[in-house]
Amino acid sequence: MRVLVTGGAGYIGSHTLLQLLRSDHDVLVYDNFTNSAPEALARVQSLSNRPLAQVTGDIRDSTRLNETFAQFRPEAVIHFAGLKSVGNSVAHPLSYYDTNVAGTLQLLRAMSSHGCDRIVFSSSATVYGEAIYLPCDEDHPLQPASPYGRSKMMVEMIIRDWAARHRDTSAVLLRYFNPVGADASGRIGEDPTDIPENLMPYVAQVAVGTRAELSVYGADYPTDDGTGERDYIHVEDLARAHCAALDYAARSPGCEAINVGTGTSVSVLQMVAAFERASGRPIPYRVVPRRAGDVARMCANVAKAQRLLGWQAQMGLEEMCRSTWAWQSANPAGYRQQA
Ligand code: NAD
Ligand code: UD1
Repeated sequence: MRVLVTGGAGYIGSHTLLQLLRSDHDVLVYDNFTNSAPEALARVQSLSNRPLAQVTGDIRDSTRLNETFAQFRPEAVIHFAGLKSVGNSVAHPLSYYDTNVAGTLQLLRAMSSHGCDRIVFSSSATVYGEAIYLPCDEDHPLQPASPYGRSKMMVEMIIRDWAARHRDTSAVLLRYFNPVGADASGRIGEDPTDIPENLMPYVAQVAVGTRAELSVYGADYPTDDGTGERDYIHVEDLARAHCAALDYAARSPGCEAINVGTGTSVSVLQMVAAFERASGRPIPYRVVPRRAGDVARMCANVAKAQRLLGWQAQMGLEEMCRSTWAWQSANPAGYRQQA
């Protein structure tokens, strides 16, 4: 299938590209590199040994998008491009609505103009807000607590309406839980340009010596060890979920939201212990007060992904830590240094 991948140079995009190329899809990446490096695409190309078309462009640039659609004639789009920091979205809400919401409108217009009627969209478990019940299924009410989360919810609604206008259109809204890990090669991985907000990249930077210690945000939650629990999903499993979603979209018109997680949750201290085992390095940490907006526990109900996509996570905590360490130790400064 000819697949246009927006934001394909980013963390999840680059891992998905590898899966797509290995599954013999024809792929074009459309990215403005605002939060990624062209080096990631060079490495994907060398790992897959397959051609990878690239266009440097902004999803809000309708002229460039339309030119790209006219030339490549994609049969489907996987839409990763967007801004993703919760904290930053509180400080700069309009940028988030502009890129995430207005950018998606331009993309859907270009798709409509060029007869492309299949999309897989990167949504997030953040659309659920604080869960009323666990594990969280797709019918759980949506109550996002940040501009970032609200931009994801708005895009979901827009895509749902767009898909409803024509009976041949298909859309899959993948709600990722907590993506972590890296390709087993250690050649591509998550490369935060700033101080990481998320647990796994922070732990990896402590292990490699870039940061002195981890702040554990609260040890007084009603969980087994008192620290926050999350449903971490290996990025390779997540990449496979995108391929399964593409296949599903090709045979099933309509719009479906689908959770992508493992269905189990892991605490901060369990993650720290697993990373120490995987890396053989100590992870010094200090317990500090809770982070505003955090919840005690989050966990996906993954029955729908199994039922509709025939997909389930295969990789556990050990592989998540081992692959992150392989990437971080070989590339302590991410893509900014040549390995
Ligand atoms: P990322 O920042 O690594 O990748 C996003 C990519 O989009 C980057 O390559 C960036 O350069 C590109 N981009 C941003 N704005 C653009 C624009 N205006 N035009 C063209 N390209 C643009 O992020 P990621 O972690 O790979 O996340 C991918 C998607 O998944 C995002 O939409 C994110 O919101 C969503 N998501 C991520 C997580 C997570 O924890 N990483 C969780 C849930 C959902
Ligand atoms: C965060 C985002 C969510 C996004 C997800 C992507 C918030 C409120 N939510 O979720 O929208 O989809 O990332 O993966 O920001 N922790 C520490 N020390 C740290 C960092 C984190 O103890 O330095 C703890 C947190 O308190 C939490 C767990 O680690 O219990 C996971 O945190 P994080 O990786 O930031 O993910 P989420 O908060 O689940």
